[in-house]
Amino acid sequence: MAAAARSGGTTRAARLDLLPRLGIRPSAGEVVNLLLEAAVGDASVRALAEGRRTTVLDAGCGRVSALRQFRSRIGEIVGMDIHGQPPGSVGHLDRFVIADLCTDPDTFAPETFDVVLMSFTVEHLTEPARAFANLRTWTRPGGALVATTVNRRHPFVAAYLDLPLDLRARLQGVVKERPEDAHPLVGACNTRRALTAGLRDAGWVDVRVSSVGHLARAWARTWPTFALGVTGDALTRGLPSRRSTLIASARRPDVPGTR
Ligand SMILES: C[S@@+](CC[C@H](N)C(=O)[O-])C[C@H]1O[C@@H](n2cnc3c(N)ncnc32)[C@H](O)[C@@H]1O
Repeated sequence: MAAAARSGGTTRAARLDLLPRLGIRPSAGEVVNLLLEAAVGDASVRALAEGRRTTVLDAGCGRVSALRQFRSRIGEIVGMDIHGQPPGSVGHLDRFVIADLCTDPDTFAPETFDVVLMSFTVEHLTEPARAFANLRTWTRPGGALVATTVNRRHPFVAAYLDLPLDLRARLQGVVKERPEDAHPLVGACNTRRALTAGLRDAGWVDVRVSSVGHLARAWARTWPTFALGVTGDALTRGLPSRRSTLIASARRPDVPGTR
């Protein structure tokens, strides 16, 4: 069993190794790391000047976080999710809070966080405008947001979102590593234009949204799903508005007290 899991892991790694050679790069993770590097660096300088520690939020944290590799430069990593997480799975967090990003505006005090990461969570939000506004309130003036989500303008994503709910749930079971990783997709704010407008309307500034092909990576669990993902990524490689994954960065205006 352990050997099978190991060989499955190796095969997945082997599939992922093929992606740069197929011209499917950069990965969403690479772009997010660059954005977090800049955001955490800027936050660290500010915190040092103000004699305090850096505090960051992973909103919709699940069990994995790109923030953990910046651990040594962050004072406190807080995770929040609408679902509880299995015991021992969020050891990289200093604090874990169960709350709904859309409906729980009092989860954190205003101006708590220097940096907010929201990785593949926007697509699950029923009221993204309220979530963007809450995140803005919880972020310090001058603080940064980095968010990744799916793009409805990719033909496979659009086709998936047009399927009946029960079929969608069954398909998620095929590509996800574990059942607890499958969450219902809503896709209420999932085009480049809608995401940009949603963040700006909530008061975020310097909003930039780029895109990468991420289907092969997300569906690398088996060879058939990986091949479908490679096809989807290759189809949209030269079409930024249609690539599968949107990556947004934004900043809260640098004026204390503005909400
Ligand atoms: C696809 S997972 C992403 C998890 C993790 N951020 C990652 O990148 O692997 C989406 C996460 O968003 C959470 N989520 C969905 N709706 C939410 C909401 N309204 N408030 C907070 N978390 C939510 C889900 O429970 C899930 O953990």
